[in-house]
Amino acid sequence: MDQRRTPVLDAIEQFRQEDRYTFALPGHRLGLGIDDRTAAVLSRGAFEADVITAKGAVSEAEALMADAVGARQAVFATCGSTVSMHTAMLTVTGPGKKILVDRNVHKSVVASLILAGAHPVWLRPRWDPENQIAHPASADDVAEALRREPDISAVLMITPTEYGTGADVRGIARLAHRHGVPLLVDEAWGAHFPFHNDLPTAAIQAGADLVVQSLHKADGGLCQASMILVGGDLVDPVDLRLRLDLLTTTSPSALLYGSIDGFRRRMVAEGHQLLDEALRRANHLRVRLGKVPGLGVLDESIIGHDSVAEWDALKLSVDVSQLGLTGYQVKDWMQERHRLLVQLGDARRVICSLTYSDNEVAMERLAGAFEQLAAEPPRPDRPAPAVPELHDLDLDQAMNPREAYFAATEQVADPAGRISAEMISPYPPGVPAILPGERFNEAVVDYLRAGLAAGMTIPDSADPDLKTFRVVRE
Ligand SMILES: Cc1ncc(COP(=O)(O)O)c(C=O)c1O
Repeated sequence: MDQRRTPVLDAIEQFRQEDRYTFALPGHRLGLGIDDRTAAVLSRGAFEADVITAKGAVSEAEALMADAVGARQAVFATCGSTVSMHTAMLTVTGPGKKILVDRNVHKSVVASLILAGAHPVWLRPRWDPENQIAHPASADDVAEALRREPDISAVLMITPTEYGTGADVRGIARLAHRHGVPLLVDEAWGAHFPFHNDLPTAAIQAGADLVVQSLHKADGGLCQASMILVGGDLVDPVDLRLRLDLLTTTSPSALLYGSIDGFRRRMVAEGHQLLDEALRRANHLRVRLGKVPGLGVLDESIIGHDSVAEWDALKLSVDVSQLGLTGYQVKDWMQERHRLLVQLGDARRVICSLTYSDNEVAMERLAGAFEQLAAEPPRPDRPAPAVPELHDLDLDQAMNPREAYFAATEQVADPAGRISAEMISPYPPGVPAILPGERFNEAVVDYLRAGLAAGMTIPDSADPDLKTFRVVRE
């Protein structure tokens, strides 16, 4: 296929050149109706491109994307990977069916379970005591679970994690296929993986049947641009289309589609070189920061450690605990002192997502900020929350998530022993510490309350102060 083509961008351009006027939506009439203030902040160009694009242009752009990344089909979506995940899950599973899921899920997966009415069989992530992070479950864990639960409808892996450690997708795909079920992969951070061999193996090329990606996370898409890739023949593309139709907007944004179209064209033309440079810059930065006393930098030696099969070298993970600081505080410090926003700050580390867009100046600014942090660390301003052992957070799934979510509920101050009716996801990374149907224990309650005090963001709890928790009424 001619990968220089950009059907969606062409359609937007053509709409403007043909001097058409619309008495349909959108009512701003290509920006005529916006005021100067709006134009100054958002730019008139954004409104001029906000046209309703012909479906044909989107289908052609999807075919080009599928060709570029080695998928059987690509489906663009405009409501983030959240709705793509709902769509994918509703395609491979449904009411009463079991799905094998890595417990290290983003909250969108839990919402999908609630929508589908499916029953999760959890794969427990591997806790790495040395680095104090959880890695995706291993192929052996999947094999064992499939032996134990033969009536699984699909397998879902989340890889790589926000920390950049990845699962053995190829091995897990083989196991799922031997079992006759599809493998779904949440690869929200990896839409550029097909374009460079030194990045984690792209799930679609490793045999996954459905892959969900956010184009806006590490790539060139506008926020909310997402796609679902289809591989193999275990998933019915018509089912997928119908499920997406059920969930998505009826007025998708041409801006988002256009940004995906342009990103694909750029990656095919120059992606390898751009990513090569990004990897080189990332490796230099890692070596430089690795020499700074007080900072601990994760590197490729993590591969082979426990279940880690892949590692994303564009995730910069810096442990600041030797400075007596939490990642929460350093995240705030970076913003206040250097106007630098990092992806994630947790109890002990800060994660930066590095991309092909970051130039030398940006990297120098980041390196300088970390060096200053280590040379003149701020006074610790909050206690580091004790991260419980992973097995203490290994909660009993006492009830189906959907049943618990829709059950009669009450708010209680001491929920230990009770079944949760809510999802509570410290953010980022947005992995629920507890989800509907799981039984609270003391450890998870203490962890959440201490985390909130230390600066964890918890966007989805019924009581934002965590004085009470929403449980199933008994
Ligand atoms: C692993 C993972 N999956 C899915 C999502 C949801 O993506 P979106 O924000 O595009 O809806 C996220 C977002 O943080 C994520 O990190």
